Amino acid sequence: MSEPPSTLITGIGELVTNDGEPNDGKPIDGKPNDGQQGAFAALTGAALVIADGRVAWTGPAARAPAADAVVDAAGRAVLPGFADSHAHLVFAGERSAEFAARMAGRPYRAGGILVTVEATRAASDAALRANLRRLGAEMLRQGTTTFECKSGYGLTVPDEARALALAAEVTPEVTYLGAHVVAPEFAADPAGYVDLVCGPMLEACAPSARWVDVFCEDGAFGADEAAAILAAGRAAGLQARVHANQLGPGPGVRVAAEAGAASADHCTFLTDADVDALVSTPVVATLLPGAEFGTRQPFPDARRLLDAGATVALATDCNPGSSFTSSMAFCIALAVREMRMTTEEAVWAATAGGARALRRTDIGHLGVGARADLILLDAPSHAYLAYRPGVPQVAAVWQAGRLVAGAPAAGRESPG
Ligand code: NIG
Ligand code: FE
Repeated sequence: MSEPPSTLITGIGELVTNDGEPNDGKPIDGKPNDGQQGAFAALTGAALVIADGRVAWTGPAARAPAADAVVDAAGRAVLPGFADSHAHLVFAGERSAEFAARMAGRPYRAGGILVTVEATRAASDAALRANLRRLGAEMLRQGTTTFECKSGYGLTVPDEARALALAAEVTPEVTYLGAHVVAPEFAADPAGYVDLVCGPMLEACAPSARWVDVFCEDGAFGADEAAAILAAGRAAGLQARVHANQLGPGPGVRVAAEAGAASADHCTFLTDADVDALVSTPVVATLLPGAEFGTRQPFPDARRLLDAGATVALATDCNPGSSFTSSMAFCIALAVREMRMTTEEAVWAATAGGARALRRTDIGHLGVGARADLILLDAPSHAYLAYRPGVPQVAAVWQAGRLVAGAPAAGRESPG
C-alpha cells in the first residue's frame, strides 16, 4: 500500500494547539508534569500538516513544508476537536413535556429517568442504534471528535449489557452506569439492586465498557453504595467516574477522590473540602452547564475551581432529561457568559480538559503526534464560539486526519 496522503492546512488565522507550558510551572493535576498536553496555547498566521492520521507539523505558515493536498483556511481558526466526556446517548423516547413543565416552575427530580428507562427497555436494538448514531453524527458535525457514552436507561442485566454493546459500536469511551437510579423492580430493595449492579450486571457489562459511573445523589445512591459500586467496577477492570454534587451538597466528590476516579461530574454544589479534594487529587472537575440550563439550577462556580487550581472540563451531559444538547459550543458559551470562564479556559476545558477527564493524551491538543482531530471554524478566533452563541460556525471537521464533516471552502481536499 502507498503512503497515505498528507494534508497541509495553511492560512490559519488562529491555531489553538493546547501545547503550551503549564500556566505557572505547578505540577499538573497535583502530580509532576508527566508530559501530558499543556496549557491553552495558540499560534497566529499558522499552518498544520496532517500525515498518517496524526499532526505531523505545526508552525508559521511561511515555513510550512509541502504536502499532497492543501487546504486554505483563509484566516479562519483551527482548534482541536471537542472531547465530550459525559453523554447519555443510548435511550428511546423524549421528555420535552417535562422540560416545558420545569420551565413553567416545576423542579427537576431524578425520577424522570424512569420515564426514559421504560421507553428504552421497550425499544428495539435497531431503534436504539439509529438514535445513538444520529446523535453521534450530530456531535461530529458540531466538532465533537470524541465522545463518552453511558448506559443507565436499561437497569436490567440484558438492557444494560445491550446499551453498552451498542455504545461500543460508536466509541471506545463506554461507561457502565447501571447505578443511574434504583431499578423500579427493586424500589423496595435498593440493597438488592446494588448487589445486582456489583454482581451479575457488572459481569455482563464489563466486557463492553472502559468506565464505571454512579449517580451519587439523594434519590439515587449514597456514599457507601457508590463506593461499593466503584470498587466492584474497578475490580472488574473498569476505571471510575462519578455523577457528583449535581442536585445538592453531598458526598460525590469525596467518593470520587477516594475511588481514584478520573472525573467528578456536575460539581454544582461544592463545599470547601470538595474543592480541596479536587485540587489535591488528579480528579478532573467536569462541569455540565447544559444541565443547569435545562433544569434552571444555579451554574457551578467554575471560577472558584479554576482559581483554586482544579482541572476543569466541560461536557454536554447530552440526555433526554436534564440536558438535551449535543453542542459543545453551547456549553462553551454558557461557561463564558454564565460561569465566568475566559474564552481560553472554556475552549481548553472542552478539548484538553475533556481529554484529561477521559485519561487520553492523544486528543484534546494539536501538538506534533496528536491524533489529527480538528475543527476549522468559520471565524477568525476561538472566542467566536462564545461571542456568537447559537450560530453554527464549524466549517469542517477532521477525525484522525480524515475530513468527516463539512467542507473547507478554500482548498482542494474533498471527503473520501
Ligand atoms: O447527568 N444525573 C443523572 N443523570 C442525568 C440525567 C438523566 C435524565 O434526566 O434522564 C444527568 O443530568
Ligand atoms: Fe449525566
